[in-house]
Amino acid sequence: MTTDLNQQSSFDAFIDRRHTDSMKWQKFPDGVIPMWVADMDFAIPSVITQAMSERIQHPIFGYTMAPPSLINCVAEYCTGKHNWTIETESLYWIPRVLPALTAACRIAGDTGDEIIVLTPVYHPLLQIPEKVGKARVDVSMVYQSPRIKDGQQRQSGRWSIDFTTLENAFTDRTAALLLSTPHNPMGVMFSEEELYKIAALCAEHNVLLVSDEIHCDLVLSTTKKHIPTALAAKEHAHTVLTIMSPSKTFNLAGANCSFAHTSNEDILKKFSHECLYTVPLVPTLSYYAAEAAYSSGWQWHGELIDYLRSNHDYLLTAINETELLSMDQLDATYLAWIDTSKLMSEDANDFFEAAGVGLSPGSQFGNQNFQRLNFACSREQLEEGVHRMVKAIEMIE
Ligand SMILES: Cc1ncc(COP(=O)(O)O)c(C=O)c1O
Repeated sequence: MTTDLNQQSSFDAFIDRRHTDSMKWQKFPDGVIPMWVADMDFAIPSVITQAMSERIQHPIFGYTMAPPSLINCVAEYCTGKHNWTIETESLYWIPRVLPALTAACRIAGDTGDEIIVLTPVYHPLLQIPEKVGKARVDVSMVYQSPRIKDGQQRQSGRWSIDFTTLENAFTDRTAALLLSTPHNPMGVMFSEEELYKIAALCAEHNVLLVSDEIHCDLVLSTTKKHIPTALAAKEHAHTVLTIMSPSKTFNLAGANCSFAHTSNEDILKKFSHECLYTVPLVPTLSYYAAEAAYSSGWQWHGELIDYLRSNHDYLLTAINETELLSMDQLDATYLAWIDTSKLMSEDANDFFEAAGVGLSPGSQFGNQNFQRLNFACSREQLEEGVHRMVKAIEMIE
């Protein structure tokens, strides 16, 4: 389904979130456009609010299990969207992804063991190893095919994994590898071959591969499809714990309902036992939100992807037209990874905040030469943000 973006789209609407206790909108002073944390300024599909309203009519909100209809829905979603057949007994429901990643890292190996992360990466993944008493081992992603600016023509480069470095990072103490796929903040989708190689290394070293696939339904590329890690490396699937969620896909970060899957019974047992004591239950309403999203939210989602692609293409051109900023085409996510190294050697976050645009600092993810910009907002707001950034740069040029 495609949307003619010359016509008014429902995603064009400005929805005032300033009085909703939104984390995104309260971080910066009034007047600064928040383009940081990964939630979208778009209204969710009305089927979700309807489902929540219906459930709220019942006056009791006791301990709630995942409804069987949701479980079936998720199994159909994995097959239909990702060509991935799962056993429903191998699912475990968690409200948020982050505590689940932490629980997974806690059950892997022993205190003092090592956890590998591919950097730069979504910043909590950098903190988790220490939180669970383990040592973090960074493997830097490498930049391939340098950017060529040729007038307006520009070739996109790609961040990828140096497998020799990755292989050398494994030791007798490696307990887990934390993977963000599609990758936040670089917006890269790994190929089937890359995912296979990662899983094979983990299997060879008896390491838990924690695959955070929260961005799996935000594919902007028209030629690539998300491949679940456990599917790409079927024969090594016993080493993989996958975590998915409708929260990024359907803008439900505050209505927490996510799920973990592993075909390894031993891992599932340890993981669920750990979560029982450290991770809260999914809130009752959130189960209903998730089911409505997965069963009836896909038309909205198609329109969303069209809108995000259009915002992405606009941003890519606008950023690369500047002399001092650049970005590569994203495979997935609504988070642009903007190179600011020509603008300044330190993190440029304060500079852009002073210009009225609130970005996520690259240093947070492990590379101060970049800023992360969330473009899941109306085109008008995005254009205003870009205009402010460009104007600020022109003042110093
Ligand atoms: C890669 C990744 N993992 C996890 C999370 C956090 O998910 P949750 O809010 O469900 O803990 C985010 C949020 O931006 C993310 O980008």
